[in-house]
Amino acid sequence: MTDTTPQCATFGLPSDTGGRDIGIFMPMANGGWIISKNSPRLDGSYDYNLKVARLADEMGLDFIMAMAKFRGYGGEIEQWKVSLDSPLMMAGLAQATSRVKVWATVHTLLQNPAVTAKMIATLDQISHGRAGLNVVTGAYKGEFAQMGAWPEGVDHDERYVLATEWIQGIKALWTEESVTRHGKYFQLDDCQSFPKPQTRPFLVCAGTSGAGVRFTAEEMDALFLAGNNLDELIANTRKAKDGALALGHAIRAYSMMILVIADTDAEAEAMVESYREGLDEGALHGMMRAYGFLDSEIGKENDFTRKARSALMAPHVAGSPATVLEKLSEIFEKTALDGLMVIFPEYLSMLPVFAAEILPVLRERFPGRVMEAASA
Ligand SMILES: Cc1cc2nc3c(=O)[nH]c(=O)nc-3n(C[C@H](O)[C@H](O)[C@H](O)COP(=O)(O)O)c2cc1C
Repeated sequence: MTDTTPQCATFGLPSDTGGRDIGIFMPMANGGWIISKNSPRLDGSYDYNLKVARLADEMGLDFIMAMAKFRGYGGEIEQWKVSLDSPLMMAGLAQATSRVKVWATVHTLLQNPAVTAKMIATLDQISHGRAGLNVVTGAYKGEFAQMGAWPEGVDHDERYVLATEWIQGIKALWTEESVTRHGKYFQLDDCQSFPKPQTRPFLVCAGTSGAGVRFTAEEMDALFLAGNNLDELIANTRKAKDGALALGHAIRAYSMMILVIADTDAEAEAMVESYREGLDEGALHGMMRAYGFLDSEIGKENDFTRKARSALMAPHVAGSPATVLEKLSEIFEKTALDGLMVIFPEYLSMLPVFAAEILPVLRERFPGRVMEAASA
């Protein structure tokens, strides 16, 4: 009997064969993912990102990914005031690296699908088949309203309808000679796009809502998800992957995590505590405004602020290399995650420690054979 279970395509990643993909969330906006006056002042510059990308490439990480951001959160630290353009930065980093996958972010609200198809096909050529696209619908009004690009009347779920039309157009442009589609949001009329990508770019999305997860299951190769604790992460991962299978698609699931690594557990915990103490209230308020909180709600305590008080903008694992290794192993053992995208408070000092002391053991414990990526 033939097995009809949906299978993931092959992308030259450890997860093709049951391993775990480990990548880096690139620090392309100042301050990284810690809104604290006490955390290292990452400058979000290309030179810093170049050093990080070269280290990631040399040290055997699987992917580097850059978000797309158009407005910072303010505060004393002016969090994310400075951010580089995601696809352009990844094009530069593709040229500077040779094996790590390079995934860029594009907002469906901002770029025409034909422009994006060509952009990512160009990234495929520069990187010799290592390109990927993180599809983001755009959730933060202020970021788009400032440039007149926030369509009123297109609500959260409708933005995923728009995104579906967008990505289906891009996939057609990557494979067909001429594309004609008259959709609700995009008009492609005998639209042509060359070159075609040599390797089908890896598609990933971090939609966590019902509409976002469904979109990801139907159109993407991987989903980013999170949980407030390990039990939630186990449940969310299982639910997303099983939900996708029920729709007839196999997807990979990733989570992002801040790794605070020091010589000892006590030192790492002290760093986490110091970040918490240095929380920049102004930046927190800016972040809340971006997330759609009303002015009347800002300054009051709620679930969001209680979580944000850690100053860490993503779940974290802290400790000595040995402790971090055991915690990450536990996450991989207990969840159905196919990989992690890691963040460091300071990349140039912590990435080499991670790559030397943690990554090789994770590879041994969760082996996957990297195969050739399938051609487009
Ligand atoms: C790993 C990760 C990367 C993301 N990258 C971006 C980004 O680059 N730009 C952006 O505006 N939103 C980004 N987001 C937000 C998501 O695209 C999404 O809007 C959010 O997770 C809420 O999900 P929903 O759209 O299904 O409600 C990211 C989220 C995660 C977890």
